[in-house]
Amino acid sequence: MSPPAQPSTAPLLDHLGRPLSDLRISVTDRCNFRCTFCMPAENRYHFVPRPEILSFEEIVRLARIFVGLGVRKIRLTGGEPLLRSEIEHLVAELAAIEGLEDLALTTNGFLLAAKARALKDAGLDRVTVSFHSLDPAVFERINGVGLALDRVLEGLEEARRVGLSPIKLNIVPIRGINEHEIVDLARWARDHGYTARFIEYMDVGTLNRWRPEEVLSAREIVERISAEMPLEPVERAHPGEVAARWRYVGGGAEVKPEPGGEVGVIPSITEPFCGDCSRVRLSAEGKVFTCLFSAVGHDLKAPLRSGEDDEELAARLRELWRARTDRYSEERTEALRAGRFSAADKVEMFRIGG
Ligand code: GTP
Ligand code: 5AD
Ligand code: SF4
Ligand code: SF4
Repeated sequence: MSPPAQPSTAPLLDHLGRPLSDLRISVTDRCNFRCTFCMPAENRYHFVPRPEILSFEEIVRLARIFVGLGVRKIRLTGGEPLLRSEIEHLVAELAAIEGLEDLALTTNGFLLAAKARALKDAGLDRVTVSFHSLDPAVFERINGVGLALDRVLEGLEEARRVGLSPIKLNIVPIRGINEHEIVDLARWARDHGYTARFIEYMDVGTLNRWRPEEVLSAREIVERISAEMPLEPVERAHPGEVAARWRYVGGGAEVKPEPGGEVGVIPSITEPFCGDCSRVRLSAEGKVFTCLFSAVGHDLKAPLRSGEDDEELAARLRELWRARTDRYSEERTEALRAGRFSAADKVEMFRIGG
């Protein structure tokens, strides 16, 4: 393998002046869940054939190039990343990349109990677990295939035991489905020392038949929690952070210390955060997406497999990032406010992770 691309001194900026700092790698488009808002169970899915999926070696090579271009955070996603066999070997290789500061993984938690120890030993820093209900029946309904909540609870416990923390819970409240659990979920996360992050239900992909009426806004979520457990805003930790953070106040001794002491809301619909979006996504088949809502990705696998060297691949990525103008969420929200929203063609979320 050729040597790693040298870290550049000047930050690589896109057309709107945004640096590249955050890489999200989807390691598989397969998932053992069929969440109603992502992969509705009534659809038939065609997954990328095995030979078309990037090997661990290819992923690591690209990740190194991205780090050379300024990436400091890598998040592994899917589909469900723990379905990729021996994912801990990939984690170990990524964790060894010089210059990388944070290596995280987003999972639905179903296979986490079995994998947590190996992931930690391989060098994973932390996990974020999708967790949309505490009610076994609602949980099974949302995951679309009736998989049991208990397994995910065991996964969370094990992740905590081995030290994959801070552990964040991604919760998508949907009107009429799990909205009645917002306060219970927040309290439960707080009491167990997890950071609950409520994500506004988004119009990702085309299969979930998203309707704006089903979205619980960040404001509504914070109001509901705050009515029972008062919250105060916390400064964003860094520019480009997707979650607006809130902290419990006035709870006295019963309020647990960090990280359970905070709640995040991710207001992609009502307060889009494209202005400082520094995220790039790599799909399992080797396409680069410069926005979660892109219709098309830019293929890196063909040049990679046809023998381009690291500098040639880096040059492609520099060119792609410099030309980037994506601000889909801002455009969608402007269209919604003007009453001219119409569903666009976009990649499905399970193909590029969240
Ligand atoms: P930390 O590294 O823990 O700070 O993670 P994060 O705040 O980036 O959150 P995470 O990666 O867990 O993302 C949480 C959710 O926010 C994702 O699953 C998406 O649903 C949403 N999200 C993340 N990045 C973007 C983005 O660039 N655009 C939009 N619209 N939503 C995003
Ligand atoms: N809107 C908001 N969040 C979603 N997720 C999946 N689909 C949607 C959607 N339509 C969440 C998942 C996971 C993260 C990657 O994004 O539950 O936690
Ligand atoms: Fe659910 Fe995540 Fe699987 Fe989509 S990729 S079906 S959100 S578990
Ligand atoms: Fe970034 Fe696209 Fe999300 Fe805006 S909509 S924050 S540009 S990924």
